[in-house]
Amino acid sequence: MARVLRNALTAAVASETPTRPGEIHLRLDHVTKRFGETPAVDDISFEVPRGSFATLLGPSGCGKTTTLRMIAGFYDPDKGDIVLGGRRINDLPAHRRGAAMVFQDYALFPHMSVEDNVGYGLRVSGVAKDERDRRVRETLEFVGLGALGDRWPNQLSGGQQQRVAVGRALVLEPQILLLDEPLSNLDAKLRVQLRWELRALQQRLGMTFVYVTHDQDEALSLSDWIAVMNAGKVEQAGTPWEIYYHPRTSFLADFVGAVNLVPGTVREVRGDEVVVAFGERTVTVRRPSGLALAAGREVRLCVRPEALALRPPAADPDGFRLPGIVARRAFLGDLMRYWVTVDGREWIVDQPDPGAAADFDGPVTVAVKPERIHVIAE
Ligand SMILES: Nc1ncnc2c1ncn2[C@@H]1O[C@H](COP(=O)(O)OP(=O)(O)O)[C@@H](O)[C@H]1O
Ligand SMILES: [Mg+2]
Repeated sequence: MARVLRNALTAAVASETPTRPGEIHLRLDHVTKRFGETPAVDDISFEVPRGSFATLLGPSGCGKTTTLRMIAGFYDPDKGDIVLGGRRINDLPAHRRGAAMVFQDYALFPHMSVEDNVGYGLRVSGVAKDERDRRVRETLEFVGLGALGDRWPNQLSGGQQQRVAVGRALVLEPQILLLDEPLSNLDAKLRVQLRWELRALQQRLGMTFVYVTHDQDEALSLSDWIAVMNAGKVEQAGTPWEIYYHPRTSFLADFVGAVNLVPGTVREVRGDEVVVAFGERTVTVRRPSGLALAAGREVRLCVRPEALALRPPAADPDGFRLPGIVARRAFLGDLMRYWVTVDGREWIVDQPDPGAAADFDGPVTVAVKPERIHVIAE
């Protein structure tokens, strides 16, 4: 059954446009949407490759849902173009765009069975009963709800309701699936489990997913590509790796995880390297590509806590082994997090595997590898 649906879906996707490697499937070009005076989405542009898991990540109110609703066709942009599969879709009604949406609260019909919920879209578009029943059955099998077609939504767990919502979108054989925080109503353990299910589903279908979340772990672990949004703008887009290790702004560095952001001043630029003074010390680090830096420029040294290590106090610490004092620590299960005071400023240092690692207190050395330091200039 599952194979039948997959074949049906991939055939539907393939018949629209043949897939070319790296082909752009969805493009937003200077898209703006205002509610009253303030823009909810402010001149955003990005491109999503066909068959990728693309995520819009950002804090509550930054414009993620509004962006998704414009792609789906529920809101008209005030400015800009939305292009799907090479075709401008601004003026197409929602049901003709080939985009299906999974809503944050699932929006299941409480007075309809699971089967009828999943079949609803097919019924309103006039698909004959036999074909409808077949597609609903296959879809329910595909999302792991084969035995629950007769149930009512209030007889399902949160995770099962989420699957009904995904099934209801997939049964329409969309080109692209839009998912608005689909896991945010579930408890932590189930959320992590369903993450992998969604990722596996996307890969089995080879379908383009545009996923919205405010949860950075979810975004990092699921996505091929992430656009981080803040106040209606895209701050940066790229692979999870680029976003995590090479953020362009302090907001971004901080939003995607714990980080040390140490203020410094550029002393000297030598080709691909840059000498940065911080406190009484200097360090030579790689110059981020595309960033023009000159002596005197204020920057931040961005280094993740897990890229640092604690050592016993050294007799004569140099610039890359910073003498510090443990201020406090927290046992986080998989790691021990230390706050270490160095030159009057706190650094966060994570030590893996606390069960086997040495315990530190009092004077310590913070070992810093210059190649793990990323420079941010805003
Ligand atoms: N229908 C609406 N009417 C008025 N303001 C809205 C509407 N939808 C969203 N907004 C506002 O637009 C901004 C972005 O909202 P939204 O896209 O829902 O953000 P997110 O999904 O990232 O939390 C918020 O300030 C929100 O209050
Ligand atoms: Mg939202």
